[in-house]
This record gives sequence, structure tokens and C-alpha cells, in this order.
Amino acid sequence: MAFGSMLCCGRRSDRKNKGAKKPAWRIFSLKELHAATNNFNYDNKLGEGGFGSVYWGQLWDGSQIAVKRLKVWSDKAETEFAVEVEILARVRHKNLLTLRGYCAEGQERLIVYDYMPNLSLLSHLHGQHSSECLLDWKRRMNIAIGSAEGIAYLHHHATPHIIHRDIKASNILLDSNFEAKVADFGFARLIPDGATHVTTKVKGTLGYLAPEYAMLGQASESCDVYSFGVLLLEIASGRRALQKLNLASNCSIADWALPLASEGKFTELADPKLNRNYEEDELRRVIVVALMCAQRRPEKRPTMLEVVEMLKGEAREKLIELENTLFKNWQSADDKDENPEDSADSISEEKDSKSESKVADSGDKEELAR
Ligand SMILES: Nc1ncnc2c1ncn2[C@@H]1O[C@H](COP(=O)(O)OP(=O)(O)OP(=O)(O)O)[C@@H](O)[C@H]1O
Ligand SMILES: [Mg+2]
Repeated sequence: MAFGSMLCCGRRSDRKNKGAKKPAWRIFSLKELHAATNNFNYDNKLGEGGFGSVYWGQLWDGSQIAVKRLKVWSDKAETEFAVEVEILARVRHKNLLTLRGYCAEGQERLIVYDYMPNLSLLSHLHGQHSSECLLDWKRRMNIAIGSAEGIAYLHHHATPHIIHRDIKASNILLDSNFEAKVADFGFARLIPDGATHVTTKVKGTLGYLAPEYAMLGQASESCDVYSFGVLLLEIASGRRALQKLNLASNCSIADWALPLASEGKFTELADPKLNRNYEEDELRRVIVVALMCAQRRPEKRPTMLEVVEMLKGEAREKLIELENTLFKNWQSADDKDENPEDSADSISEEKDSKSESKVADSGDKEELAR
């Protein structure tokens, strides 16, 4: 994507446009971002990902920002940068990270976001904040529903519809009230009206990839639903998406959870850090919805709108019906001593050498299926 092409999108700051609403985003100068981040000082660094490092900063008006700075310039990185800005600039939702603007000077590419004081869900579940146990059950439930609403907005209300393709714990950020903000749209795809899926290079993170996407490169909303199921299981259990069994193999969180859930052992599935302080029916609901999302067959997964309804407890009958089918299928497959058809995918060893590692491209073509 030519970088210039994204400039047509979003509502840019326009000083002539008096009386207009607060501008959605603006262009920052490199000088301004140097000043805000104390010259990208190491002490300001919040974290690092595939795109580059993220720095905390403060603007002249006192507002706090997070600045993502591209590590190494390349055509591929330029495309990711453009996709992220293009997509973020066209969406606004309380559960999506807000774009403040960007900077493109020389080979410097920077994206400016609202700063999220509670960092990522990953840092609370498995990282620097995990020992503080700040995520009680109420907050976890709120994060689950909020992130589901953010993704449902991308799938069902944004025009054109958007698939995220990298839903995972480090891409769910938390504001000062622990409200979830879905972040990182660098891998997202716009889905034109009428298209059922796009065939595309496989990108994303091991442990979160839907089987049809990992194997065939078929990206659709339902791939995000699968990843969201994995994320829900992490929220409830505090476990990582992939567990190392031995040197050669891993077990996916869904393969671990399904047998326990089908035997009704929900207590064993709950994060021990919760010290049994949770609403039993909500825990059960989260786990059942998660397992429905993480089914191998995409056509059996719910939509994100249904996920939101079920998580909120607004579709009890539907939930009971789907739960019965889910566990019946698992039970009958187990009786036959087969791999359950509907269990979540287990990931091939070759691809699974590192948990949370990025997946390499599996093909070059991108095409639309209608
Ligand atoms: N807006 C923000 N506010 C506060 N912290 C942020 C913000 N954006 C990112 N971070 C922090 O920076 C870290 C790195 O983010 P980044 O998106 O670059 O990498 P990642 O999500 O870990 O991996 P990936 O490159 O696969 O997305 C995050 O885990 C988060 O802790
Ligand atoms: Mg990220």
C-alpha cells in the first residue's frame, strides 16, 4: 500500500474547519515526539514488539501518549505501518485503542496512541504485573466483555468489515479503569462487502491461530473468534495459550480445558490466583463460550455478536443448547477413542518451537472468496 493513499481516510485536524468536533487524529513532527519521549530515552520504553519499541511520552499540553517507533524500515514494515494507521483512523469505539496520529519523516515511522496506564492484559496475566494480582474476577469479566465488544464492532459495524488477525493478550491494553482496548491493527484486513474470507499470507501468533487459517491461509471473522476463545481461556485460567509438554510437543489451552469442562470440573480450570473468588456461573459461561469459539470447524463457532450476548448472560437458552452439543460431541468422540472432531486445534511441532512467536508467511497470494 502506498503510504500516501492512507491520507484520504479519517477526519484530519483542520484548523479552517471551525466549530468541527475535536479532530480524530493529526500528524506529529519528529521534533515534537523527540521532545515528548525525552529523545526516545530507554527509561521511557514501555515494551517491544515485532514492529519496534513503544515509548511513553508527554505532550506539551500534559497529555500522556504511547509512541510506537518502527525498528527497521522496509517495504513490509511500511505496509504494516500504513495498514495500522489506515484502519485505526477509520474506527472509533470505546474498546478500541484510539489513534492520536502518526509521523512519517525520512525513514522514521511512528504511531502515536493514547497511553494505557495499566499496559497489556499479558503483563497482568503472565508478565511484570502478574504477582500483584490486580485482576480480580469482576475486572476479568469486564475485560472479556469489553474486548468482545471491540472485536464485534470491527466485524459487524465497521465499514468495510475488519478482521484483526492478531488477537492475543499483549494486544488487549488496559486503561486506568481496567477497561479493555483492542490494539495492534498492523495485520488487519478489510473485508469487502459480500466476501466470505480472504486468502492471505498467514500472520499472527502461535497458539492463537485458527486451524483453517494456519493451514490454508483462509482469514475470516471466524479466525478472530477462534483467537478470542483462546484469549478467554487465558483470562479464566491464568494459563498461557500453549503449554510445553516436553521438548518436542506442546498442548494448546483449549485441548487442556475441554476434557475438564466436559466433566464439569470448572473449579480446576479457574486461575488459582483468584483464590476461588469468582462467580461460578460466570466462570462456567466464560469457559463454555471460549470452547465454542475455539472449535476446529469455523462454521460451528459463534459470531462475535453472539459471543457478546452469551458473555453478558443475555442468551441463556442458546448457551445451554450450544453447551450440550459441544460436550456431547466431545463425549461421543472420546467414547470412540478418537480425537474429538470439534476440539480445538493442536499446533504442529515445527511451527510450535516458541510460544507467542510470530508465524512466518505461508504463501504469497492474496485473493478474495465470494
Ligand atoms: N498505548 C499503549 N499504552 C501503554 N502501553 C502500551 C501501548 N501500546 C503498547 N504498549 C506496551 O508495549 C508493549 C509492546 O507492544 P507491541 O504492540 O509493540 O508488541 P506486542 O504486542 O508485545 O507484540 P506484537 O508485535 O506481536 O504486537 C505491549 O505489550 C504493551 O505493554
Ligand atoms: Mg501488540
